[in-house]
Amino acid sequence: MSRSPIRFEDGAAYERGMGAWSLPTGAAFLDWLAPAPGLAWLDVGCGSGAFTELLLRRAAAAEAHGIDPAPAQLAFARDRPGAAGAVFHQGEAGALPFPAERFDAAAMALVIFFLPDPARGVAEMARVVRPGGLVAAYAWDMASGGFPFAPIRAALAACGHTPILPPSAEASGIAEMAALWRGAGLAGVATTSFEITRRFIDFDAFWAVSTLTGSLRASVAGLDAAALARVKEATCARVAIAADGSVGCTARANAVRGIVPPAPG
Ligand SMILES: C[S@@+](CC[C@H](N)C(=O)[O-])C[C@H]1O[C@@H](n2cnc3c(N)ncnc32)[C@H](O)[C@@H]1O
Repeated sequence: MSRSPIRFEDGAAYERGMGAWSLPTGAAFLDWLAPAPGLAWLDVGCGSGAFTELLLRRAAAAEAHGIDPAPAQLAFARDRPGAAGAVFHQGEAGALPFPAERFDAAAMALVIFFLPDPARGVAEMARVVRPGGLVAAYAWDMASGGFPFAPIRAALAACGHTPILPPSAEASGIAEMAALWRGAGLAGVATTSFEITRRFIDFDAFWAVSTLTGSLRASVAGLDAAALARVKEATCARVAIAADGSVGCTARANAVRGIVPPAPG
């Protein structure tokens, strides 16, 4: 598998391709976290603001800050009606521009596999959350086919192409996430997994939405028309197409949570 950089240069395309997955999955993640209302939250790798919106609407955050390195994602997030009131910053998970203990809670939604150094990103979240506060994440289970568009990835490989993977795909495993959380000194570490199904009106709709953004956009971008047609055919053979032509697609996410321990002494 190739690990070229994956760029997020179109917030609206991201929202249609992945934001529509991240809203229901983020809601399931928040239901599992069951946070108290009125917390000050940091959303690391906030992208188009889908999870930031959930923090305000579903978790009744008193304060919501999002941070992301991609200007196009931030532009979409800043215009997002559901995230009005949130504050968006440009920056990296590995060097959060906030003082220690600034937030009550921090989360990464679908981000950990993009970090060049996931352990550093988790340590940064733990640093900016107060003792007793929550540090959490969820991510597609990349290693065991949980990525929503795994059938396209499998078709690319079967046709002799190299699907592009995020740089730290292995960090999305449930044991790996738990180890990262424990390694950052977090207490009460707990994990879970959940599945989300999305239905597309037909195969073309599934294909169009799935290749709009992220690693699959990067993976199909260089294919000529004949190669693309072969990959689409191979994908068609790998998805569940119902009698009415609709395509059902199930993704699986792993999630982790932990608590910042009291400062020593
Ligand atoms: C799959 S999107 C997730 C967006 C959003 N959290 C959601 O749930 O829809 C991954 C995001 O991680 C961001 N990202 C990539 N590298 C990052 C880094 N080093 N630090 C913080 N965010 C990063 C990308 O710009 C992108 O917006």
